[in-house]
Amino acid sequence: MSISFMDESPADNESPSSNEAVMDHSAPKLNHKLLLVNGVNLNLLGKREPEIYGYTTLAQIEANLKTLAAKHGIELICIQSNHEGKLVDDIQHYGLLADTDEQVDAIIINPAAFTHTSVALRDALLATQKPFIEVHLSNVHARESFRRHSYLSDVAIGIISGLGSMGYQMALEYWLSTLYELNRND
Ligand code: DQA
Repeated sequence: MSISFMDESPADNESPSSNEAVMDHSAPKLNHKLLLVNGVNLNLLGKREPEIYGYTTLAQIEANLKTLAAKHGIELICIQSNHEGKLVDDIQHYGLLADTDEQVDAIIINPAAFTHTSVALRDALLATQKPFIEVHLSNVHARESFRRHSYLSDVAIGIISGLGSMGYQMALEYWLSTLYELNRND
């Protein structure tokens, strides 16, 4: 969000005085909220095929990311569901239907198996017009061939796959530095 100062003398009494801060309405307004979406079966992280998905639970991942975001004054809203329609509802809400101030600036999503099946999630993400990063814990290109196709990748800003839970953190750090111009060490 940028604030500029009037550099011209006010033309009449109704104009702001020359040292009054005015909002620069040409700059996109940032709400300092991000959305983390996890899809089907990711509630089982820590217990589910840990040799593939690791031992870290979703609660631990969410807590770590929320702490990192909060350090920079960013609210991270975390949702997980095993139901495609619920994810669509939540993405619609936080991305488009909520009051403008309640909407998120960007999204991090691991759609899990919905990655390979869901036109509905793709359409919901596109409807929000919010930029998103697709994350996968495992390397989906080194597994069964059906995992190589994603309904989201071509419309994502980027994809992180195969770096375990660190992938979520990298996605968050990307949004912190590109959207809010913050560095991890700030
Ligand atoms: C996953 C990869 C998907 O193919 C799989 O269905 C998942 C998790 C991952 O994070 O590696 O459930 O998205």
